[in-house]
Order: sequence, then C-alpha cells, then structure tokens
Amino acid sequence: MTGEMMRQLSWILPLGCACLEVAFASAAAGLVPGKAFDRLITIWLENQDYSKTILDASITDLARRGILLTSFYAHTHPSQPNYLAAISGDYFGNDHDDMVHIPKNVSTVVDLLETKRISWAGYFEDYPSPGYMGNYSKGSSGDDSWDYVRKHNPFVSFESVFTEGERLLQLQSFRDFQRTFKAKLVPQFVFMTPNMNNDGHNTSLKYATDWSYKFLKPLLDDKAFDEKTLIMLTFDESEDYSKPNQIVTLLLGSAVPKALKGTQDDTFYTHYSMLSTIQNNWGLPHLGRYDVGANVFKFVAEQTKYKKNRDPVNRKEVNSSVSYPGLLHSDPAKVLPIPIPNSKLIGAGGRPILDSIKSTWASAFKGDWQTPYDGSGKVFDGDEHLPEYKTAAANRP
Ligand SMILES: *[C@@H]1O[C@H](CO)[C@@H](O)[C@H](O)[C@H]1NC(C)=O
Ligand SMILES: *[C@@H]1O[C@H](CO)[C@@H](O)[C@H](O)[C@H]1NC(C)=O
Ligand SMILES: *[C@@H]1O[C@H](CO)[C@@H](O)[C@H](O)[C@H]1NC(C)=O
Ligand SMILES: *[C@@H]1O[C@H](CO)[C@@H](O)[C@H](O)[C@H]1NC(C)=O
Repeated sequence: MTGEMMRQLSWILPLGCACLEVAFASAAAGLVPGKAFDRLITIWLENQDYSKTILDASITDLARRGILLTSFYAHTHPSQPNYLAAISGDYFGNDHDDMVHIPKNVSTVVDLLETKRISWAGYFEDYPSPGYMGNYSKGSSGDDSWDYVRKHNPFVSFESVFTEGERLLQLQSFRDFQRTFKAKLVPQFVFMTPNMNNDGHNTSLKYATDWSYKFLKPLLDDKAFDEKTLIMLTFDESEDYSKPNQIVTLLLGSAVPKALKGTQDDTFYTHYSMLSTIQNNWGLPHLGRYDVGANVFKFVAEQTKYKKNRDPVNRKEVNSSVSYPGLLHSDPAKVLPIPIPNSKLIGAGGRPILDSIKSTWASAFKGDWQTPYDGSGKVFDGDEHLPEYKTAAANRP
C-alpha cells in the first residue's frame, strides 16, 4: 500500500483508529530495504557455554548453512540484563531477574526502527495475549510451570514501550508469528524467545538445539521469505559463571552470502553488535550508549564498506560475569542514575544520535558533562573493569 493510498483511506476510515495504523505499520507498509539484509530475526536460547555448544549435532549441522561467530560474549549474569542490553545498549547495572521498569527517557531499538517505519515485533512462546505485562504464564505444559517469563522479554521493561499501546500490541505469541510467516508478512525486525523448555532453560542443550533445528527448518527453506532475511540464533549467556561469558551465535538465512556458508568469523562481538549491525544496515541513528563502537557483523560491514570494527583494547582481561553498578542493581550501595547518552558520537549507521534522545536529554548536556559511553567498543564488568565516566567527546570519524 502506498503512502498516497493510506492518506486516501484515512479520509474514509474513522479518525484515531490506532489499530489500523498498527496493521499498516507491521504488514502492508512498504518494505524498507537494507544494505545487507531486509529482515533480521533473532532467536534467543538460554544458558550454554560456547565450548559445549559447538559440539552439539544440531548446531554443527546448522553451522554448515551459515556463519559461526567464534568470539561472541554476553555481558553478565543472570538472563535479564543480557536481554535488556540487546535492545537498549546498556543493562543499567541489572544483576537479577526480578521485574524492572526503565524510565521513559531511555530509548530502544524500537525508536530507531520507527524513524524509518521499519516494521518490528517481539514473539514470545506461550505469551497469553498481545502486550501481556505479567511475570509469567502457564502455557502449553498446562501445569503450574512458567512457560513464558517476563525476564526473557526485554520490551515490557521499558516505559518507552509499555506506555505506548501501539508498541505493546507488537508483542505477540509464537502462534502469531506462524500466522504472519504463512501470510509472508513477517516484520523486518523480529525478536523471539521460545518457552522455558524449548529455550533450554529448564531442559538441556540438546533439547533446545533439537527444538531450534525443527523450528528453523521451514524458515531456512529457499522459498520461506521473498526478502533477504538474516536469522541470528543466539544464547543469552553462558552456563558457567566462572568463565568469560562466551556463547555461540549463528548467522543463517538468505542474507548470508553463499560463499560464506559453513565459515567462521572470529571478530569480537557482544549483544550490542545486533544494535550496531541494524544501524549499519539501515543507516539508522544510534542510542548514544554501548551500541556505538560495538562491532558490526563482518559480512554486513564488508557489504557496507564499514571500516571501524576492531578488538576492544581490554578484550583479553575482561570478565563479563558480574554486573557493574547502575540503576537496576540489587545492592543499594551500587545504585547509580541512568548515564547520560553521548550525543557527540557518530554511530555505525553513519548518523548522529536519535533526535528524540537529543531533545529529551538536552538539560543534561551542559558544562563538563560526564558519560561512560565513548564509542570505543571497550567492554566493562563489575569486577575490575568498571565503566569509566569521562567528559563527553566525539568518537573518531
Ligand atoms: C512480579 O514479580 C515482582 C518481582 O519480580 C513482584 O514484585 C510483583 O508483585 C510480581 N507481580 C505479580 C502480578 O505477581
Ligand atoms: C522452569 O523452572 C522454574 C524454576 O527455575 C520453575 O519455576 C518453572 O515451573 C519451570 N518451568 C517449566 C516449563 O518447567
Ligand atoms: C570472573 O569473576 C567471577 C566472579 O567474581 C570469578 O568467579 C571468576 O573466577 C572470574 N573469571 C575470570 C576468568 O577471571
Ligand atoms: C530520566 O528519567 C529519570 C526517571 O524519571 C529521571 O530521574 C532523570 O532525571 C531523567 N533524565 C533527564 C535528563 O531527563
């Protein structure tokens, strides 16, 4: 449907029908082509070490159809902070799985995508109804077990999402995903979490990877999507808390160049790399947090001629097992305000910070203001590599 048709329709249809706008935004609105992919679907499994995962038979088979990222690190433990980080560029000191609320002046990937009207959705298995805000739900197992859990759905923790009805409606169940998949109407950015059994949380590595193999089979079919689709299968964190938090991530789907299928990429990545890759692919603004400086997936960077990927200077010493201080830390002595986003940086999309962040935080950009976000890609933890607050400065061009 063209913009002109939408304008004409808006005369005929009742004013203020938000449901209609949502339908347009997620389905009929024009596809926004990306430089290396037109769609990104990320699927999150739970708690497995890199060293064990690469030996798994389903993972080995899937790796032949895509790119294995051999240096991908989660940020901390337990689950929730890793999910929060992936969509907002920080985990704000979170070190637990209890319910959190992140203030409205913190933006997420949703704000970035909506600048270009790129459709998006979150799909959560056994999610009882669109926009459900509860802590958990009983689902397919039917007993009192937690099938859907809030801690694995980062969107509902952000006021900037849950206070906007149209955004909440984009959070749906796996049944809704299958419906849109059959109709060839899958949005352009999709975040998916299987239930507590299928994601391996309450089961095993084999259970989760067998499930993934079956789930992915139709999605990896040549005819599954008409547009160039990147499927990113990842884990939230490692199982072993004592090791650097290394996890397996696979890049699959039609967006992966044929010549790269079955190869490995040893570039250093974290969950922030999804944000920088999306920005790079669609030329989007950034969030002014750790998204800036995070390495862009190499096959994408090659196609966009992005040259800023590099190892963080402290790559070898980092122990990303313990959360640094911040607003969502459980220890009152480690609670800090939300850091000021760095409005002086240029992100991987070649663009400055999102306009609405610049205006919302304008009062903070005064005098010699300090921020931990320097766009360097350096990684931090709660042991010996605490975030370093410095006078805000531009990153290298
Ligand atoms: C959800 O969990 C939080 C703790 O994480 C608790 O404070 C809250 O009361 C729970 N909400 C419901 C509806 O049970
Ligand atoms: C998964 O484990 C949690 C405890 O970690 C438990 O409360 C829940 O009922 C289990 N869910 C399923 C689906 O077995
Ligand atoms: C990382 O920190 C945890 C918790 O302090 C500790 O148990 C572990 O030994 C550290 N790992 C490394 C590789 O330093
Ligand atoms: C962001 O929101 C928090 C919570 O409402 C508030 O404490 C803080 O002052 C706000 N920051 C700015 C710059 O508006």
